Amino acid sequence: MNPVPLPALIEPACALSLAEAGRLLREGRLVAFPTETVYGLGADATCDRAVAAIFEAKGRPSFNPLIVHVADAAEAEALVELDDRARLLTARFWPGPLTLVLPRRAGSPVSLLASAGLDTIAVRMPDHPVALDLIRAAGRPLAAPSANRSGAVSPTLALHVVDSLGARVALVLDGGPCRVGVESTVLDLSTATACLLRPGGIAAEEIEAALGSPLARAAIDPHAPKSPGMLESHYAPGLPVRLNATTAEQDEALLGFGDIVGTLTLSAAGDLQEAAANLFAMLRLLDGGPHRAIAVAPIPEHGLGLAINDRLRRAAAPRGQP
Ligand code: TXA
Ligand code: MG
Repeated sequence: MNPVPLPALIEPACALSLAEAGRLLREGRLVAFPTETVYGLGADATCDRAVAAIFEAKGRPSFNPLIVHVADAAEAEALVELDDRARLLTARFWPGPLTLVLPRRAGSPVSLLASAGLDTIAVRMPDHPVALDLIRAAGRPLAAPSANRSGAVSPTLALHVVDSLGARVALVLDGGPCRVGVESTVLDLSTATACLLRPGGIAAEEIEAALGSPLARAAIDPHAPKSPGMLESHYAPGLPVRLNATTAEQDEALLGFGDIVGTLTLSAAGDLQEAAANLFAMLRLLDGGPHRAIAVAPIPEHGLGLAINDRLRRAAAPRGQP
């Protein structure tokens, strides 16, 4: 039998807890922290042992590459090779929910495990004062996936982290609810044509406008999925999820949007930003309720709707064998 995990230590982010968190990170321990998107499970990105602890704590079946968080663009220059496109995008969108996949710089101190042995590294500068203070307090870049067990709903409150990870994390810094609510947009700049790998907090349309050219995004085109069955189950609540519902069937909770009023409603005004910010917390609330399934109203497929629908399709994808 597995022992019941002890609760994690949770502290409001302040000068004292940030200094303690920085010390823990330098010792190779894990610290969860708020970003503008979701809470991250941070480790020293330059330390193999610390990065390995992330995979262990999340129960990740495979070594997916992690995002390396930096406090400014100059710090990124020491880790990866930025080209003109990358400089334009960092000037326009950093700090913010845009992750750039770039060629690893020769001599880059980032653990090979953090990039899963690839010759590229994903970097991002989060738009949250606690995250930036923590990176500076640690004095090194931080590898950080979302602070939840693998496959589960991402955390947008410190309490979600405690629920999901317990004492697998040394300290949770509480910075209140996450403003954006869905993870960063991941853009691959290691190829001639910039490629959208994951829709997220910065709309693809905004990036295309900044670059003045369309992004490659074939792999995630919702109108031409390779096979719905190939969608990896992720962001999955305990209950089954049914998409594009206009009404709830018997015993179903309805997650509404716009004119479709539900048990909970992502945004009555039909505002995609508000919906993104509410998405994971509302899925968690409905999951903990008395229903047998969660039905979700249709969400428009533009702007942040791309990221919301991506997460919802994965939440509704067939679950793997335990
Ligand atoms: O908003 C976010 O991005 C949050 C917060 C904590 O910053 N982090 C996050 O990390 O969502 P994670 O590990 O859940 O997602 C990392 C994504 C994955 O889709 C991964 O495949 C991709 O980034 N990725 C990381 N490194 C990559 C690389 N070198 N090449 C291609 N994709 C990469
Ligand atoms: Mg995640």
